[in-house]
Amino acid sequence: MSFTTTILQWFQDNGRALPWRDTRDPYAIWLSEIILQQTRIEQGLPYWERFMRHWHTVEELAAASEDEVLREWQGLGYYSRARNLHTAAKQIVEMGGFPRTLEGIKRLKGVGDYTAAAIGSIAFNLPAAVVDGNVYRVLSRYYGIITPINTTEGKKEFTALAQSLLPKNEASAFNQAMMDFGAIQCTPQTPLCPSCPLQETCIAFRENKVTGLPVKQKTLKIKERHLTYIYIKYKGETAIHRRSARDIWQGLYEPWLTDVVPSSAVLQCRNLKHVLTHRIIYADFYLWEPTERPSLPDDYVWIKETDIDKYGIPRLIDIFLQKLNE
Ligand code: ADE
Ligand code: SF4
Repeated sequence: MSFTTTILQWFQDNGRALPWRDTRDPYAIWLSEIILQQTRIEQGLPYWERFMRHWHTVEELAAASEDEVLREWQGLGYYSRARNLHTAAKQIVEMGGFPRTLEGIKRLKGVGDYTAAAIGSIAFNLPAAVVDGNVYRVLSRYYGIITPINTTEGKKEFTALAQSLLPKNEASAFNQAMMDFGAIQCTPQTPLCPSCPLQETCIAFRENKVTGLPVKQKTLKIKERHLTYIYIKYKGETAIHRRSARDIWQGLYEPWLTDVVPSSAVLQCRNLKHVLTHRIIYADFYLWEPTERPSLPDDYVWIKETDIDKYGIPRLIDIFLQKLNE
């Protein structure tokens, strides 16, 4: 049996039952793909369900406010996805409906080659191969390919191979088969080679190279950054401001951010570590209960402390607030 036939058969027997696989609604499928871009299925599933319950159609999502969408997204991280989702919803409404070609789907904010192939194939069976981490791993192992996957050459090579293996009438099943096979059978650590239907013809297995594949070229170290927050309590109120563009956590709210700590502020939490895509954040949190209302930079607003969960806040701040309320 060929690679493709074996993978499709494996998917029939072992594919995961997921709610967005019971529908052909491109809105539901698009939403699932945006959520799953940087989130595991177990974590993303309840968010997908909540979004679908809250906004049944793309028109309803487009009519929501950005703050509302960010609030619903809270805890998922990578908040640019939520902002792009909202922008794309408005684009779709403007286009007069969900685009049905790869070019049209790629025009949506937050949708790159990978996501366009996923949405196009799953919703419309368009013959576009998905090339994600699972696909790199499975193909590099099965075919014994040592080209680094994070290079232009590697991307080209693996994309061409995946495209050549894609059965033109079963794009949806093949792409999701590859995702599931990589997530369940050919996993990053300790893949289940003994029970694998591809084992007999798998080059990495035959040559004992499974754990060494795929190959990645080393990249530059990610930057570290230190932040100091002062959580102010004054007559049941606290001060927050909205983060501006071109930085982390764009559009989210946070307490007073300053290097100058008032002498009566009390350190609550030191070097709380938080890992983002290109940054490691270390944050100190102080609690300050001044006797008079302090004056702050003019982008700060005073809100009732109990109202803070009405605002989209970064996960790191949420963790601190939970500690504070313990
Ligand atoms: N990861 C991203 N999209 C997925 C899908 N449709 N099924 C399973 N895992 C995925
Ligand atoms: Fe992956 Fe092992 Fe199967 Fe090869 S034999 S495809 S390495 S699970």
